[in-house]
Amino acid sequence: MQVTPLQGAGAEITGVDIRHLTPGEFAAVRQAYADHGVIFFRDQSLSEDEHIAFARRFGPININRFFQAHERFPEIALVLKEKEQKTNIGGGWHTDHSYDAEPAMGSVLVARQLPDAGGDTWFASMYAAYDTLDASTKAEIADLQAVHSARHIFGSAPDNHYKANRDTDSRIGNAAAADVLEDVTHPVVIAHPLSGKKALYVNPAFTTRIEGYTDQASHELLARLYAHAMNPAHAHRFKWQPGSVAFWDNRATWHWAMNDYHGERRLMHRITIEGCALN
Ligand SMILES: [Fe+2]
Repeated sequence: MQVTPLQGAGAEITGVDIRHLTPGEFAAVRQAYADHGVIFFRDQSLSEDEHIAFARRFGPININRFFQAHERFPEIALVLKEKEQKTNIGGGWHTDHSYDAEPAMGSVLVARQLPDAGGDTWFASMYAAYDTLDASTKAEIADLQAVHSARHIFGSAPDNHYKANRDTDSRIGNAAAADVLEDVTHPVVIAHPLSGKKALYVNPAFTTRIEGYTDQASHELLARLYAHAMNPAHAHRFKWQPGSVAFWDNRATWHWAMNDYHGERRLMHRITIEGCALN
């Protein structure tokens, strides 16, 4: 088994069948995941049961409240775009579940049906985003907290993200559960629960403001942090193939699913693993 760091973010792991990890391989995969924030495998052949079994080795499974589920495996959320649909899921920089008090650790995404071209996913390292900030910005954000919510994304108001894009109605639901979400706060800089490294933990989808800042100061700081974190120098564009698996950590990366394959169907199976409170 070999771990090869990739340009920008993440690492590719080769020479392993993730259906049959030995204890030593499992430990090495877990370490690579902690070190790199996202790991990729190629040429895997996972049934739904094997996908679930792989994810369960890393922690309990989070059943997604908003995504359409696999009809036989509730643990599996469908990330789907039909050929006649225009809006994709996750089509902007974000990290999943920052709107929860204990954000999910990460997700194992398996490609099931891919377009002939397009549908790549970008991953950005929030370890690198933090490390490359200038010293005065690091000092400014060291003790700040940010507020996160998913009401404006998954909620029922007509201008909420998915409600405004009605062709997602069959894929994203349960808006009532989003409407009653309470704001949560997390540190702007976290000590990563697995690696101990510092990571920037704000994101353009779910972070709504910096606690204690005026609206304008909050907007300005977040815009500056986002512009820095989006730098392609610390991002990797992952090109899916049949058999590809990506396993990302929500606390160490952002991701962005490109929506450049209109007229073709793309189906991914996502399993999300529970996380913990962040400090
Ligand atoms: Fe996502």
